[in-house]
Amino acid sequence: MKILVTGGLGFIGSHTVVELQNGGFEVVIIDNCSNSTPEVLKGITKVTGKEPIFEQFDLREKENVQDFFKRHDDIEGVIHFAASKAVGESVEKPLLYYENNIATLVYILQQLSAKSSSNFIFSSSCTVYGQADELPITENAPVKPAESPYGNTKQIGEEIIRDTCKVTPNLSAISLRYFNPVGAHPTAEIGELPIGVPQNLVPFITQTAIGLREQLSVFGDNYPTSDGTCIRDYIHVVDLAKAHVVALKRLLEKKNTSNYEVFNVGTGKGSTVLEVIQSFEKVSEQKLNYKVVGRREGDITAAYADTTKANNELGWKAKSSLDDSLSSAWKWEQKVRS
Ligand code: WQD
Repeated sequence: MKILVTGGLGFIGSHTVVELQNGGFEVVIIDNCSNSTPEVLKGITKVTGKEPIFEQFDLREKENVQDFFKRHDDIEGVIHFAASKAVGESVEKPLLYYENNIATLVYILQQLSAKSSSNFIFSSSCTVYGQADELPITENAPVKPAESPYGNTKQIGEEIIRDTCKVTPNLSAISLRYFNPVGAHPTAEIGELPIGVPQNLVPFITQTAIGLREQLSVFGDNYPTSDGTCIRDYIHVVDLAKAHVVALKRLLEKKNTSNYEVFNVGTGKGSTVLEVIQSFEKVSEQKLNYKVVGRREGDITAAYADTTKANNELGWKAKSSLDDSLSSAWKWEQKVRS
């Protein structure tokens, strides 16, 4: 059974390709390599022994998308990761984000709507909740006004899918709202490859520990939390990848209860920034050089998932601990820099 993974050379995409192949699926990757490299294909192939089909082109070219679906009319499902995802950059370049994250989604959905039956998994984000009023966050929590164009593209993307599914009974879709994906494949053959200075906490920690960065700045310790630093739900990328395969199978096996569903994908456990640092120092057996500085614009105090729905309806639960995630991230960083 052939599955299209857009953005399949990216951090979450590549780990999901591995789990799809492990599950017996044939995978086709589309990636424009704007935030990834074809080298990742080698890593995927080393892990699974199977090289996915790979086509490098930009999904913003509508004709490319139409031509692709003509040539691959046996695609049974699509997992759509391809998008720009840097919160700060989205504030500076909103039109780049609206074009890249929205237009490409529309072009893919146009193709899927024309098929007799299609299954679609959308890469969404807990960002849609903003600072939720209640914790842990359930799927019924209200979607708040987006704090960035990036977050807005996830909200708009979910609305586009919902509205399309309403009038397209042959299209079944699931939006997976990720919390904070971290870590790397245990083989250290694939992992996170941030381009330039990492925006996210864990890659900045590992790059500081390996000596690539001088010091980690902890953005604020005066939040109303146990130690004053922000709380997030850090989920191992392999657990997250497995959630995509489970969600896809739910649609393929027609176990979905409606043709549009939403699931939070997290561990259900919140960790502060200082707890992440302590966990890293434990697993790496070395002290991390960090300094507390002022708050980062746009950061929310706390976000962690209520995973009851994914646990009960998807039959999926994250298995890896924060230590496991950080240990795999550290092993990957050491491998990449060796
Ligand atoms: C986590 C915590 C920072 C860096 C973002 C997007 C989200 C998703 C994941 C794409 C925060 C603190 C961070 C640093 C720090 N991206 N921090 N020093 O902001 O929760 O989520 O990335 O889908 O949509 O919003 O993740 O890793 O940037 O920050 O103190 O150098 O670490 O303040 O509290 P975030 P993050």
